[in-house]
Amino acid sequence: MSKHVLIRGGTLVTADDERRGDLLIEGEHIVAIGDSLAAPSGARVIDAGGAYVLPGGIDPHTHMELPFMGTVASEDFFSGTSAAAAGGTTMCIDFVIPAPKEPLIEAYRKWRGWAEKAACDYSFHVAVTWWDDTVHADMGELTRAHGVNSFKHFMAYKGAIMCDDEVLVSSFRRAGELGALCTVHAENGELVWALQQQVFEAGITGPEGHPLSRPPEVEGEAANRAIRIAEVLGVPVYLVHTSCIDALEAVTRARLEGQRVFAEVLAQHLVIDDSVYRDRDWDRAAHHVMSPPFRPKHHQAALWAGLASGMLQTTATDHCCFCTPQKRMGLADFRKIPNGTNGVEDRMAVLWHHGVRTGRLTPSEFVAVTSSNAAKIFNVYPRKGSLAVGADADVVIWDPNKTRTISAATHHQNIDVSIYDGMEVIGNPAVTLSRGRVVYEDGQLKTERGTGRYVDRPCHAPYWAAQKLRNRLAEVKPVERAVPEREED
Ligand code: URP
Ligand code: ZN
Ligand code: ZN
Repeated sequence: MSKHVLIRGGTLVTADDERRGDLLIEGEHIVAIGDSLAAPSGARVIDAGGAYVLPGGIDPHTHMELPFMGTVASEDFFSGTSAAAAGGTTMCIDFVIPAPKEPLIEAYRKWRGWAEKAACDYSFHVAVTWWDDTVHADMGELTRAHGVNSFKHFMAYKGAIMCDDEVLVSSFRRAGELGALCTVHAENGELVWALQQQVFEAGITGPEGHPLSRPPEVEGEAANRAIRIAEVLGVPVYLVHTSCIDALEAVTRARLEGQRVFAEVLAQHLVIDDSVYRDRDWDRAAHHVMSPPFRPKHHQAALWAGLASGMLQTTATDHCCFCTPQKRMGLADFRKIPNGTNGVEDRMAVLWHHGVRTGRLTPSEFVAVTSSNAAKIFNVYPRKGSLAVGADADVVIWDPNKTRTISAATHHQNIDVSIYDGMEVIGNPAVTLSRGRVVYEDGQLKTERGTGRYVDRPCHAPYWAAQKLRNRLAEVKPVERAVPEREED
């Protein structure tokens, strides 16, 4: 079989520009881009006339087979990365989440083992859920020897994986020394805990209790706290799943002050509002229980504006699937409903349909927020997130007219319901290639277990984290003064 694929006659779109042309792949890499490229003998030629040719999507926030809230997420690394490919996403950055007291390196090795079945490329953020000297040392080893350049901090989930300010400060400082990026789930876990008890004791036991216990202020407070801690320590910070105006305002203010703050928004928070929790069907309401929760509708316009203006740089899914019997663990108590929703297959189409087709985003901006920006922030650019000679051939041929009505009956995600059930999206992948292999075509998945590879992400060059220069302690000298003599008792 020839190792060449020639994609002919499409509109090549990167975060920088759009141009008509051909793209030649040899083996796993893009080897030429130009006009009227000749097909090497035996090459497979794919006609992309009328279609866009895009860098494969990068989802910087997924949770495949995550053990969480007394169960395990139903999507494994093979089914999840296959579903991603069907939706045009060719790389996922998942999370290693050690249990408290579990050594980071041990947890990392466990997740690497689980992920060997992946069908597309992947990488890991590693969560810091507790602190001692071994965590300090493991963070060093993970950055030096295992290609980890980002550490995750859950400011919520008290009694499980939440870290308090002491852990945040220790970990942020250590990440700063290493040149790694701190990411945070920003919700005030103490407030969530208190509100959960209050709501439950008031007799609200169903899914409608979930958003009541996690209002936007809870996210805004934590977002601001994480950003301010990062500012004082002089380290960059990345907020995952920014869902509301309150958090977006904290991000915007910090960025306007020159702080290196990045923020992600989930596709679902852009298009689904909190009315889902009042659905009279318990299962349907419970399938929307995720954190942060869906918000009142007016937050959506602000999030779209944040994306269009560059205040929010990336889009993700937080793909964390639980099937109906798992969600029913919380039938009598909303606090026990496993938190998480699907979407790894749907993000690109939802963003195209609601973003590009409405004029909120240009095709180049779409590429930036679905792929290139994540590649840059997490330091795999231009190997990923670009169409460039030498880059990995993670490529999507995107048909702007292909229509799909999202349904759990036809999707490839390993979950019996979709939060997008019934939504029509125009603009979908026709063909997806992962490192030169066709993994999705004509509606058919062609992924193979274990063909995905782990992607090393080295720490950024030191100037990227140069805000550490703002560390006030470094600039201040002790005051020279006469010290009064101590009076004897
Ligand atoms: O509800 C969610 N988001 N579940 C996954 C864990 C997390 O908070 O990211
Ligand atoms: Zn989270
Ligand atoms: Zn998550």
